[in-house]
Amino acid sequence: MLDKFEKIIFALPKGRILNKAIKLMSDSDIKPEEDFINPDSRKLRFSTNDQELDLIRIRSADVPTFVAFGAADIGIAGQDDLLELGYPELYVPLDLNIGLCKLVIAQSADLDAIEPNPPLSYIKIATKYPNITKKYFEKKGVQAECIKLNGAIELAPSLGLCERIVDIVETGKTLKANGLVEKEKIADISSCLIVNRTSLKTKPDKINNLINRFTETVHGKAA
Ligand code: PRP
Repeated sequence: MLDKFEKIIFALPKGRILNKAIKLMSDSDIKPEEDFINPDSRKLRFSTNDQELDLIRIRSADVPTFVAFGAADIGIAGQDDLLELGYPELYVPLDLNIGLCKLVIAQSADLDAIEPNPPLSYIKIATKYPNITKKYFEKKGVQAECIKLNGAIELAPSLGLCERIVDIVETGKTLKANGLVEKEKIADISSCLIVNRTSLKTKPDKINNLINRFTETVHGKAA
């Protein structure tokens, strides 16, 4: 039996991209133990068909933190969370081309009809991404006061919490259903393979093998 510290720990995000991530893993010949797909299981760490590799399933926004601090060696993370957290300890070898969406600024459709582009020097914004938002508005010479929320951001303008929001848009349905319109795109987003730089040095064979397998799955053998 391998000691738990000798194993490779792979961090997978819960939520909307989990099924696509599982498909990529399966195509890369990584098969988790049965409990992984058992909705009644409360386990968070799972063995796989590879005795040197365990999976952990955590909140998507926490994947970069687990990998940056070396609690996990490798993981799948959205570029939104990578940009927000900005960990230099992370190496990003591969865009997995899943979880495609965009990070946008949105505001109330009613307000937009009255004053689409008001001159701004200060703005209150609700977002999961305060660091990205502040930097983006700083470049425009606008001071952004960010109110950090962890979900249901689209409610905030109608309840008077803020003038605008910065959030992820995939289909646009959530914006529309909550009376908001997109004003500007900050970035296109997809999910990437991320690796802890120290793990890459200390466990190069295993980590490079995983990177190569995922690269073949995403781009085909000739890549
Ligand atoms: C995300 C995002 C938006 C929504 C956009 O939330 O924060 O609310 O998806 O998707 P759409 O453009 O397809 O409507 P998520 O569903 O991940 O839940 P959350 O609000 O808990 O973050």
